[in-house]
Amino acid sequence: MFKDYFQYKGISFPRVIYSEQGLQAAENKFQVRDDDIFNVTYQKSGTVWMLEILSLIRSNGDPSWCRTVPNWDRGPWYETNLGLRTAQGNQSPRIISSHLPIHLFAKSFFQSKAKVLYTVRNPKDVVVSLYHFSQIFRPYKCPGQLDQFLEQFLEGDVPFGSWFDHVKGWLELRDCENFFWISYEELHQDLRGSVERICKFLGKDLDTQALEAVVENASFQAMKQNKMSNFSLSPSCFLDQTKSSFLRKGIIGDWKNHLTPAQIDQFDRVYREQMQGLDVTFPWDEPRTSQPSPSPTDCLDPQPGSN
Ligand code: A3P
Repeated sequence: MFKDYFQYKGISFPRVIYSEQGLQAAENKFQVRDDDIFNVTYQKSGTVWMLEILSLIRSNGDPSWCRTVPNWDRGPWYETNLGLRTAQGNQSPRIISSHLPIHLFAKSFFQSKAKVLYTVRNPKDVVVSLYHFSQIFRPYKCPGQLDQFLEQFLEGDVPFGSWFDHVKGWLELRDCENFFWISYEELHQDLRGSVERICKFLGKDLDTQALEAVVENASFQAMKQNKMSNFSLSPSCFLDQTKSSFLRKGIIGDWKNHLTPAQIDQFDRVYREQMQGLDVTFPWDEPRTSQPSPSPTDCLDPQPGSN
């Protein structure tokens, strides 16, 4: 049972936490409420970070809720067997987390006024984070060598499928007023400014003190110390944090410590192919250098050696 995956509409899910019936219910039966706030990500992109930010905003910066209730109850992953029940039982306004690609998301969302916040992260850091997470999260298959795992990630042969499809799918909503997207990198570089943008999207007015409290309590250090946010309450048969931690490094660019030049080349090639045509610039994208246009005489002057 452990480490056993099943396919649902072309996507792999680990059997211990998910089921076909649960995913069907999440997609077709789950009743989205107009005041629901969805925290959506591809895994390892900053889900629990955004969940902490949203929890703190909801509490006007007061950390009591975050310090007394586990994050999986504050913002349950509604596509899991357990999370579905928790989400259904939670009081409005609900915070609901999800890693689902858009084509498996709750159908009732698309007729609602509920809001989605989508957090995206440099996929090179996602793959490194996921590689470490797969070593400690028991329902996941052991990732083997990084080289082999990288191939699987680039092909979308991991739980929740392709990073590229996930991001391209969700960002199709980017012009909708109930959709907001932000990057892990922006949260990292300017948490305060990011929280202000999130509050604006949510229509939530926080005073300076409350804003500061959100920033302070959503820091990596604060979350690492909070047992309601660091998964130390998660049974070790699910998450073995003796080898690595869920809140592992929390930095930008750790991929540089793990990927070889050949792996980086391969990644960049697939990234370019997959993301071409998407009119979005991410913080990790190289600035586009404009090619100097050839002078009219270039094509007239034969180069030495050419004839
Ligand atoms: P690393 O493994 O690179 O450290 P998710 O919640 O989507 O599973 O993402 C987990 C990643 O987000 C981990 O990345 C984790 O350390 C990072 N993270 C969680 N909270 C954070 C915070 N407050 N600041 C920075 N990174 C954070």
